[in-house]
Amino acid sequence: MDTLLAFFQKRLTRAIHKAFEETSEADVAPCGQEGFGHYQCNSPLRLAKVLKQNPRAVATALIDALEPADRAACAHIEIAGPGFINFTLSPTFLSAELQKQLNDPHLGASIPGKRQRIIVEFSSPNVAKELHVGHIRSTIIGDCLARLFEFLGQDVLRLNHIGDWGTQFGMLIAYMADEQVSGDADLHTLMTWYKAAKKRFDAEPEFKKRAQLEVVRLQSGDPESLKIWRSICDISRRGFQEIYNLLNVTITERGESFYNPQLKAVVEELQHKNLITVSDGAKCLFLDGFVNREGQPLPLMVQKSDGGYNYDTTDLAAIRHRILVEKADRIIAITDLGQQLHFHMIFAAAEKAGWLDPTKVRVDHVGFGLVLGSDGKKFKTRSGETEKLIDLLTEAVDHARAIVLEKTPNAPPQEVEHLAHVLGIGAVKYSDLASLRTKDYTFSYERMLRFEGNTAVFLLYSYVRIQGIKRKVGADIQRVLQEHTIQLQHPSEISLGLHLRRFPEILEAVARDLLPNRLTDYLYELAEKFNAFFRDCRVEGSPEEGSRLVLCELTSRILKQGLEILGLETVDRM
Ligand code: ARG
Repeated sequence: MDTLLAFFQKRLTRAIHKAFEETSEADVAPCGQEGFGHYQCNSPLRLAKVLKQNPRAVATALIDALEPADRAACAHIEIAGPGFINFTLSPTFLSAELQKQLNDPHLGASIPGKRQRIIVEFSSPNVAKELHVGHIRSTIIGDCLARLFEFLGQDVLRLNHIGDWGTQFGMLIAYMADEQVSGDADLHTLMTWYKAAKKRFDAEPEFKKRAQLEVVRLQSGDPESLKIWRSICDISRRGFQEIYNLLNVTITERGESFYNPQLKAVVEELQHKNLITVSDGAKCLFLDGFVNREGQPLPLMVQKSDGGYNYDTTDLAAIRHRILVEKADRIIAITDLGQQLHFHMIFAAAEKAGWLDPTKVRVDHVGFGLVLGSDGKKFKTRSGETEKLIDLLTEAVDHARAIVLEKTPNAPPQEVEHLAHVLGIGAVKYSDLASLRTKDYTFSYERMLRFEGNTAVFLLYSYVRIQGIKRKVGADIQRVLQEHTIQLQHPSEISLGLHLRRFPEILEAVARDLLPNRLTDYLYELAEKFNAFFRDCRVEGSPEEGSRLVLCELTSRILKQGLEILGLETVDRM
């Protein structure tokens, strides 16, 4: 199905062609204020300049050039201001559009004939090193974008680029040998080893030397070293998985070590292409336009003077693999904004190396701001330690449970637990996604669990309310759907209907801008419009009951689908 925006764009582009033999695309946008109309066309102003005519005359000619059927879709067409055209859809046309949307499994979203292969790289914590709350942000945002593209019918590969290779393993292996510890520790213990090992590494030259030898042994593929390395990764993996389970996130692990066998060939290829400059013994790749604060050229370092490879090398291998082997049409990597420059350099390098053709493959670094506590400083959990990330999630569930128990003290324990989970985890995800991702965001259990305003709880409650209306009327909803169609009449119904029909437009916008808060804003407005409709229009026992129940059903489906794309579960009662 076309979006309404596409509907107007097509019709008006045709009209421009017909009236003026011009081939430009019509410029159409939703009206800023519903009172003026539903969609507006801004093309007459631009055309008037090109054609040296009066804008209002151009607008009149455009309206005349529309097909009669297209004009009939509108209740009003008005030329306004200096010469733009406002279109107000007719309730009959909009009702029929909503009916089609209801019967479409994709709720009006257009599904491509040929699926795009989209790689979404997110979460990507580091083995044994400290986890930070930014990894949760990356996980929540990445899962949302992956869900969006999956819903839009694309072929999505979710990748967890964990930091599972590097010098930290040398010191950990040396430390574990000294302490004679191994095997079945948990993530927290592993991180205390990491800290202790790091301390010794910095303080004891003898230990440092041994750690460095361990790195060489590991990188040369020594079976004993590999075995310990694997056990360290396993411990971390179990810790990460606990978080993914709680968040209901699926992701395929493909960490830095995956690219290890490709690094040598990548550097050789760059050398063959004459892209490498040796600077202080290190192999560097200089790129136009990238300079440091002092204005000095800033290179990617692909091989250190001691022959070792690093973060830059792995990321070059990764982008090469994703384009040439995975045949990605689009690549999205989600990390904090601190790594934006790094990614832009990797993209520029991939282009220079001839792997990336930006007209064929779209690459995006999706950066986000810091998570702050209520004190305005970097967020820390109750224990004061940043590493116990799982605490952050369980604490949100604890807060939600307290609220549930306060409102419904006699609910069965199982129900309380389920609701606490849905609300607690939903609140953490929603409050993250609802804030503009490029800004720092203040974490507050109290605010995210409020019943009023743009929160998960408000939206989940609105959803429950619709289910309640359907239950109260008692009609079998399947039968209602067969016997009735939507017939919009009241202005609050029309306003809700128009908003429902715009759902696919919003999804397309998020797919383009990668800003999930556009979807949370949309859903919040949807819930408010539904509430206004329910305030103004009687459903139960009214002559319009059938049509209005169908409208409730469409609202409930779109709300549920929208929340699902955000990664939120819904409940039918609360
Ligand atoms: N492991 C990194 C970190 O925790 C994030 C990895 C991001 N992805 C990448 N391809 N470099 O900061």
